[in-house]
Amino acid sequence: MKLTVVGGGSTYTPELVDGFARLRDTLPVEELVLVDPAADRLELVGGLARRIFARHGHDGRIVTTGDLDAGVEGADAVLLQLRVGGQAAREQDETWPLECGCVGQETTGAGGLAKALRTVPVVLDIAERVRRTNPDAWIIDFTNPVGIVTRALLEAGHKAVGLCNVAIGFQRKFARMLGVAPGEIHLDHVGLNHLTWETGVRLGGPEGEDVLPGLLSEYGEAIAADLRLPRPLLDRLGVVPSYYLRYYYAHDEVVRELRSKPSRAAEVAEMERQLLTMYADPTLDEKPELLARRGGAYYSEAAVDLAAGLLGGTGSGPEEPSVDGGGGRRAGGSPYQVVNTRNGGTLPFLPDDAVIEVQAAVGPKGAAPLAVPAVDPLYAGLMAQVTAYEELALEAALRGGRDRVFRTLLAHPLVGQYAYAETLTDQLIAHNREHLAWA
Ligand code: G6P
Ligand code: MN
Repeated sequence: MKLTVVGGGSTYTPELVDGFARLRDTLPVEELVLVDPAADRLELVGGLARRIFARHGHDGRIVTTGDLDAGVEGADAVLLQLRVGGQAAREQDETWPLECGCVGQETTGAGGLAKALRTVPVVLDIAERVRRTNPDAWIIDFTNPVGIVTRALLEAGHKAVGLCNVAIGFQRKFARMLGVAPGEIHLDHVGLNHLTWETGVRLGGPEGEDVLPGLLSEYGEAIAADLRLPRPLLDRLGVVPSYYLRYYYAHDEVVRELRSKPSRAAEVAEMERQLLTMYADPTLDEKPELLARRGGAYYSEAAVDLAAGLLGGTGSGPEEPSVDGGGGRRAGGSPYQVVNTRNGGTLPFLPDDAVIEVQAAVGPKGAAPLAVPAVDPLYAGLMAQVTAYEELALEAALRGGRDRVFRTLLAHPLVGQYAYAETLTDQLIAHNREHLAWA
C-alpha cells in the first residue's frame, strides 16, 4: 500500500508516522511519500520519519519530494494536511477579528472564513492533479476548515472524506474515565466539523447502553474543566459539546482572553522552531514529547482507521467493514468512524449536500452515515445557521468578490451585525490579498 501526504513537511508529520509505525497491522504501509514545497523542512521531517520506521522495525519506504504529480502516482490514498500561508497567515486570522470584538480563530468566525478563502482553491487544484494522475485514490482531508474544504472536494466530484481528531479525543478520554478500551466506546456524535456535540456515549457499539448520564454525574467536573465551560451548563445540556462550542457559548469571555495573551499561532510557531531543531538531531528516533502540546492528539490513529476502512480493511478482523451499515470489526475496534461526509438526508433539517460530521460505516465505497435520532432544536438551529454560512463561504471561495465575503460574514452567527461584517470584510481582504486571486 502506498500513501502520500501533501504537506508532509509539517512538524505534525512525526505524529502520523508514529501511528503508521505502531499500527502497521491495521494499515500495512509499504511506501509513504511526503510531498512538500519547503525542501529544508521536508528533509528534516523525512529524516526523522525514516528513523521512526527503523526504530519500530518497519520496512516501509519513505520518499520525500517537492513534486506533487510524481508523489501521488500510484498512491492508494492521499492525505491533505496543509496550511496555506503557514502560521503567519494563521496569526492574522487570530488577530484582526478581535478589533471588532469578534473571536479570532483559524477555523471559526471571520478568521475561519479567511482560511477557507485561502485554502479551497489550493486544495481543489491539488485534488485535480491527484485525479489526473490517479483517479482511484481516496483523498483524506485534514486541511481546515475541514467542513468547507470537504464540501468543496465533494462538489467537484472527488473521492474525499474529511477527518478531525475531536471525536477520537473524546473517545479516548471517556474510555480512560470508564476504564475500558477505546474501541469499546461508541460516541453518538452529531454536528458539523468543529461544531459538534456528544449526545450519547455507548458501550460496545451503536446499540450499546448509553452511559453518558452516569459519566456526566461522576466526571462532569473534570469534563467541564477541560472544556473550560461551567459545570452547571453541562448538567443542563446533558450532552458534551466540543471545545469549539466555547467560541459560541462563552464568546465574549474568549474574546477577552484572546486579547490578553499572545496568539496560538505565535505559540505554535515557537514550538515549531524547537521541534525542527529536535528533528535535526540524528539520534532522535521517536516523536518528541513537545509534539503532544499541539492540538492534533490521536490524529494519526484516526487517519490509520479511516485509511484502513477506505482501502478495504486490511486488518485481521474476521469481516470486512461494509457501507451498508452491517460492517464487520477490524482488529482495532469498531468499523464505524466519525468522519465528515455528505449529509444526504441524515440530518433532515440540513440540505442533502451539506457536509456533516457523524458516525459512518466506512468501506471501500466510502462513508455511509449511520442514522441519527431527532436533534434537539438547541443544536439543530446552530447547525443550520452554520451550514448556511459554510455554503456561502464555499461560494465566496470559488467565485470571490467583496460582496460574497460580506454576505458570508453577515450569515455567521459569531458576526451577524452589518457594521462588523463590513469592517471584517475589509480586514479579511486587506490581510489576505496575496492569497486571493480575485482581490
Ligand atoms: C485540533 C483540531 C484541528 C486543529 C488543531 C490545532 O486538533 O481538531 O483541526 O488544526 O487542533 O492545533 P494547534 O496545535 O495547531 O493549535
Ligand atoms: Mn479539527
